[in-house]
Amino acid sequence: MSVQPVISVVGLTKVYRDFWRRARVRAVNNLDLEVRPGEIFGLLGPNGSGKSTTIKIILGLLNPTRGRVTVFGRPPDDVRVKSRIGYLPEESYLYRFLNARETLDYYGTLFQLPRGERRRRMAQLLDMVGLPRHAARRPVGEYSKGMARRIGLAQALINDPDLLILDEPTSGLDPLGAKLVKDAIVRIGQEFKKTILLSSHLLADVEEVCHRVVILYGGRIQTSGTMEQVLARNEQVQLTGERLSPQTINEIQNLVRQREGRSLTVSVPRDRLEHLFLRIVREAHERQVESAGSGVTGEIAAFLGAEQQGREVIEQLVRVEPEPAAAGESETPAPAPVAEAVLAELTAAGQTAPRPDGQPATTEARKPDAARVKPEPDRSLLSELSGEEPRGGGSS
Ligand SMILES: Nc1ncnc2c1ncn2[C@@H]1O[C@H](COP(=O)(O)OP(=O)(O)OP(=O)(O)O)[C@@H](O)[C@H]1O
Ligand SMILES: [Mg+2]
Repeated sequence: MSVQPVISVVGLTKVYRDFWRRARVRAVNNLDLEVRPGEIFGLLGPNGSGKSTTIKIILGLLNPTRGRVTVFGRPPDDVRVKSRIGYLPEESYLYRFLNARETLDYYGTLFQLPRGERRRRMAQLLDMVGLPRHAARRPVGEYSKGMARRIGLAQALINDPDLLILDEPTSGLDPLGAKLVKDAIVRIGQEFKKTILLSSHLLADVEEVCHRVVILYGGRIQTSGTMEQVLARNEQVQLTGERLSPQTINEIQNLVRQREGRSLTVSVPRDRLEHLFLRIVREAHERQVESAGSGVTGEIAAFLGAEQQGREVIEQLVRVEPEPAAAGESETPAPAPVAEAVLAELTAAGQTAPRPDGQPATTEARKPDAARVKPEPDRSLLSELSGEEPRGGGSS
């Protein structure tokens, strides 16, 4: 049985029109793609190749001209879908006069998180993206580009989304920040089984984190596949080992010439500049050299995926083993009865924050998706966040 894709795009075409509804730009042209559960999927291509347009259609911020898009099996503008997505836009759309804490609090309120839960998530996320306390109290309008990117990532995670869509997540980040974001993407994907769609021009970053990619040009897919498939250079072979004497190298080259009639290029591998940079910054941090910028961290926010992990434990506990065919045929012991109290405790994962009214934390299990849907946000706000005309406006 095939698994339902998280994102399915079939025959997607987007033509931007001018004021007179004349076709101006064919940004996406008959695009097919599928993103599967738990996958980190890269959308690559040069400037203007249609990456952000595709992302905005998947988010339901733009209408397609033609084609079919579903997210979690539903249309992208379904509120049940929106509540499960975290989005980092390519430009930071942050309110200049709010500080980092107020910004996260604001987005937490949009997702109807209780005050205690917002505070808990805020503290963990600020730590995770490396914004120290003193920086978190400054208005985000004063932030450097990389600092704004970090708070943008925290904002995208505040609702503990199942699908994370990141439009150029590492643009503007210093190598330390880029490493932090890359590590976070990999861990969020692997440990918490989230699905991640990202676009990026930083190909080394994409190569490190993505399982599958498509490369777009002119709104069309030029190539696609797993990282191994698209990067394999089957016409070459690479041998790596410890340092060899010049004499041994000579002999190997002669052997290859005689046997295969080919010449062998020998070179010394170089370390990566990223590694050198990270070492220097870490050493400066350890020497406590003063900086007003971002910090060094990398702790993943503990609340992420708490619900997912809880669900898995419960599924394991309550799984019913098949009945043995006949008495005495199987030695498998019957499943142990599950204590109600243990279940109640497990289902309370991520729900232990004190209530805003000061009452003790509730152990009520988290409501199913349909019940924890946030209301449709104000369209004008979505348009402002995406920098696009509202849906149904002149551009689609
Ligand atoms: N609102 C708009 N109105 C008209 N044309 C647009 C609009 N947004 C994008 N385009 C055009 O659509 C094409 C694809 O743009 P898009 O932003 O999707 O590219 P991209 O791959 O994200 O590029 P980049 O790497 O620069 O972010 C470009 O030619 C762009 O000029
Ligand atoms: Mg773009």
